[in-house]
Amino acid sequence: MDLTGKVALVTGSAQGIGKAIALRLAREGADIIIVDRSDDSRSEEVLAEIMALGRRAIIDPGDIGNVVDNRRIVADGVAKMGQIDVLVNNAGIEHNAPFLAITEADYDAVLEVNLKGTFFLTQAFVQHLRDTQRPGRVINISSVHEELPFPHFTTYCASKGGLKMMMRNLAIELAPFGITVNNIAPGAIETPINTRLLDSPELLTALLGNIPLGRLGKPEDVAGMVAFLAGPDAAYVTGTTMVIDGGLLWNYAEQ
Ligand code: BGC
Repeated sequence: MDLTGKVALVTGSAQGIGKAIALRLAREGADIIIVDRSDDSRSEEVLAEIMALGRRAIIDPGDIGNVVDNRRIVADGVAKMGQIDVLVNNAGIEHNAPFLAITEADYDAVLEVNLKGTFFLTQAFVQHLRDTQRPGRVINISSVHEELPFPHFTTYCASKGGLKMMMRNLAIELAPFGITVNNIAPGAIETPINTRLLDSPELLTALLGNIPLGRLGKPEDVAGMVAFLAGPDAAYVTGTTMVIDGGLLWNYAEQ
């Protein structure tokens, strides 16, 4: 996947799946805009690793849940790197609570990052592509829960279901501009979002029983698909979700 000369903006790239994506795209030749919350010092480590690969990189901090920040993130990225070709909407949060316990603040926190922020960051990116008359790629890190119910994670599932339809809509609407839009739906991946699970042998054993390939995914499993969708071989792929879950989503069996 030769991404030489491309600039990719990756949200939530100080850790977990986002970090693996940033490093993988850099290894394929892309320059990287690292976006994460401004208080996340781990961004500096990612920056150093990318520069060590001989690529250009900047840290462009901001809150994805804030529309003013979304516009500023794209403007700063373009000002410092000259252009953006690939947007990876990876930042996401989840909240575990029974339906009756979910407050308006809980709802807003999840929906603002996972859906509203992704929407307006994408809008700012597409505006940049229109202004400069260039094609581009939008890759959203969704979840198997854009399809699969997950009791006690209703805000998360609502955000990912919304992201699925946002992706399908934009794939059609933006195709005339040479912009492709796709989702990646990871299953259970070894990342900080799954700390609760990774720390509980019981929960982990139960989960592994649901994964036909018998292991959790690694951030690198997801990053490889991002590299494909960002590269020349995926030029004709748009409007679809790539599921990376070891078989979890469609697993059903009777003993
Ligand atoms: C969620 C994890 C969950 C996994 C599989 C992911 O989208 O972030 O909390 O373990 O899906 O259900």
